[in-house]
Amino acid sequence: MYAVHDEFPLLPGLRYLNHAAVSPWPKRAADAVSRFAEQNTRSGARNYTDWLQVERRLRERLQRLLNAPSWADIALVKNTSEALSFVAFGLDWRAGEQVLISNEEFPSNRVVWQALRRFGVEVIQIDLQRGDPEAALLAACGPRTRLLSISAVQYASGLRLDLPRLGQGCQQRGVLFCVDAIQQLGALPFDVQASQCAFAMADGHKWLLGPEGLGVFYCRSDLREQLKLHEYGWHMLEHAGDYQRTDWQPARSARRFECGSPNMLGTTALEASLSLLEEVGMAHVEAALQERVQWLLDGLQKIPGAQLHSPLNPQRRGGIVNFSLTGWQNQQLFERLKQEQVICAQRGAGIRLSPHFYTPTAVIEESLQLLHQLGTG
Ligand SMILES: Cc1ncc(COP(=O)(O)O)c(C=O)c1O
Repeated sequence: MYAVHDEFPLLPGLRYLNHAAVSPWPKRAADAVSRFAEQNTRSGARNYTDWLQVERRLRERLQRLLNAPSWADIALVKNTSEALSFVAFGLDWRAGEQVLISNEEFPSNRVVWQALRRFGVEVIQIDLQRGDPEAALLAACGPRTRLLSISAVQYASGLRLDLPRLGQGCQQRGVLFCVDAIQQLGALPFDVQASQCAFAMADGHKWLLGPEGLGVFYCRSDLREQLKLHEYGWHMLEHAGDYQRTDWQPARSARRFECGSPNMLGTTALEASLSLLEEVGMAHVEAALQERVQWLLDGLQKIPGAQLHSPLNPQRRGGIVNFSLTGWQNQQLFERLKQEQVICAQRGAGIRLSPHFYTPTAVIEESLQLLHQLGTG
C-alpha cells in the first residue's frame, strides 16, 4: 500500500522542484533495482522468464497510461530523441514537404526535423505566444504540410497544448500528428486515441519517476509498417528467439523498433515506478500536482518584482512554473537557490520550478519564503 513519505525519503532540507528535468525514484523502484542486482549477482539470468514478465507488465502499464489500443503498440526505446528519429527517418519524404513545429521546442523535437533538410524537407516554426496557439498551428498547415510535431507541454514556459483539438485539426487536413509527451506523461492524463496521435513518445526519467535510458514510443498500428527501419537485430524479428531460422521478417508489433537485448535494469525500475503512478491514479496525480502549481503561482504573484513566464490558466499548464525576479540574473538566482537546497532549473526566460504530486507542502512554503526574501531583500 502506498504511503507518500515512505515512497519519497528525500534528504531532510532538500526542496526538490525539478521533476521536469530528472525525478527522484520512489523507494519501490530502488528496492526493485536492489533485488534485481542481488539476483544478477547470485544467480545471473536464471530467472530470465520472470524478467520477461516484468517487461510485459511495463508495456501493459504504458499502454494504459497512453490509452493505446494494445500493448503491441508500445515500443520500449532508449529515449524520446530516439523515437523522434525513428519517425523522422522512417517516413518516406518528398522534396518540398513541410514539418510544422513550434518556436519553443526542446532541441530533440527541432533538430531531428531540421536534419531532414537533405531530403528537401522544410521546417516551419510557429510562434505559440500570439493568441490562440492551436489556431496558429492549424492555420499554418498547407498542402505541403506532411507532419505536425509538438510538445504536449512546452519544456520552458510550461504552456500546455490542447492535443485533441490539434489531433482533430490534423486529421481533417490529412497531416500526421506527432506528440513529444515527455512533459505530460505521468504529470497529467494523456490519451493517444482522444488526441488522434499518429506517433507519441516520452522518456521515463521525468514525470514517470523512472531512470534515464528507457522511454516509450507509440506508433499507430496502421502506420507501423510505413516507417522504414534503420536498426536490425535478433530481438525485432517476428520469430525472435528462433535462432536457427534463416527466413525472417520484422515483428508485426512495435517490438520491430527494438533491435537487440532490452534494457532490463531500466525496465525493472520503471515498471516499479509506474506501479506507484497507477496505484495513485492519474486523476489524483493531476489534481495534486495542479494544487501545488497553483500554490507556487499564488506565492510568486505576491512577491514584488517576480515576473511569471508560465500560463495562469489551469487548462494551459502542466507541472511547470517559470519566473524571474527583478534585480537577479537568472543564472545568479539559480545558483543561490541551489545553495539553499532548492533544486530547480534555469530554462527559457527564467527559473523553472516543477513539483510533483507528492511534493510536501513544506517544500513549497519554504521555497516561496526564500524567494520572498530574495525578491524583497
Ligand atoms: C520536451 C522535451 N523533449 C525531449 C526531451 C529530451 O528527451 P530524451 O532525453 O528522452 O531524448 C526533453 C528533456 O528535457 C524535453 O523536455
